[in-house]
Amino acid sequence: MYFIDTHTHLYLEEFAHDRQQVVNSALAANVQKMMLPNIDSSSIDGMLGLADQYPDNCLPMIGLHPTSVKDDYLNEIAIVEKWINARKFYAIGECGIDLYWDKEHAVQQEFVFRHHIDLARTHNLPIVVHIRDSFNEVIQILKDENKSDIRGIFHCFSGSVEQAEQAIKYGFSLGLGGVITFKNNKMQETLKHVDLRHLVLETDAPFLAPVPYRGKRNEPSYIPNIAQMVANIKGITLDQVTEATTINAEKLFQLT
Ligand code: NI
Repeated sequence: MYFIDTHTHLYLEEFAHDRQQVVNSALAANVQKMMLPNIDSSSIDGMLGLADQYPDNCLPMIGLHPTSVKDDYLNEIAIVEKWINARKFYAIGECGIDLYWDKEHAVQQEFVFRHHIDLARTHNLPIVVHIRDSFNEVIQILKDENKSDIRGIFHCFSGSVEQAEQAIKYGFSLGLGGVITFKNNKMQETLKHVDLRHLVLETDAPFLAPVPYRGKRNEPSYIPNIAQMVANIKGITLDQVTEATTINAEKLFQLT
C-alpha cells in the first residue's frame, strides 16, 4: 500500500530549484499521490503545470484560500468558476476561514466559503477546509448550510476530542500533519480517541515540517514520519495507518 499526501503546495517558489527532485523523493518514499490545494489566481498556472507533468501523481484542486480573500474576491471567484468547468479537479480547496492572519475580510471570507460549499455540491467534490482560529465559525456555517451531502477534510486539525467529534458529525475527515509530531501537542491525546477511518495524512509542504525536520522546509517524502507517529500514538502498526489513511483518501477524492 502506498501513501497519499492529501495537502501539499509543491508548486510554490520554495520548490523552484528542485521540484522534480522533491517529487522523485516522494515517489521513492512510496508517497505516490500528492493532492495540490490551490491558493488563488496567481498559483493556478504553476499548480496545473505540475499536475500536467505528473498526471498520475500530482492531482489539483481549485479554490480561493481564505488568506487570499481581499477586496477583489468576486473577481477571484469568477476565475475559480471558469476553471472548474474547464478541466478535472479532485476537490474544492483550499477554502475556509482564517482569523489568525486576517480579520479584516472576515465577512468576505464567510461569503467565499459558503460559495465554495455550493460549488462542491454542484460538482460533487469534497472540500478541503482551512480552520485557523476559526473552528467554531466553520462549524456554524456547516450547521447553517445543513447539507448532508458535503464531505471533505478539516485541514491541519489539532483540536479537542469534542471538536473532532463535531467535524466527523458533519461528514469530515481530519487532516493530520507535522504538528502531530511536535512535543506536547494536544492533538496527540485527541488522536487516541479518533477512529482510523476518519484520518488522512498531509504535509502542508513547504510549511510545518514534522520532527526531525521541524523548522525546515517540509516536503511530501516526510509523510511516513507523520504516519509512524500516528502508529506510535495509537499503538498500531505503520502498515495499518498507511492502509487506512490511503483508503480514506482514495474514497474521499474518488481516486479509484
Ligand atoms: Ni495549505
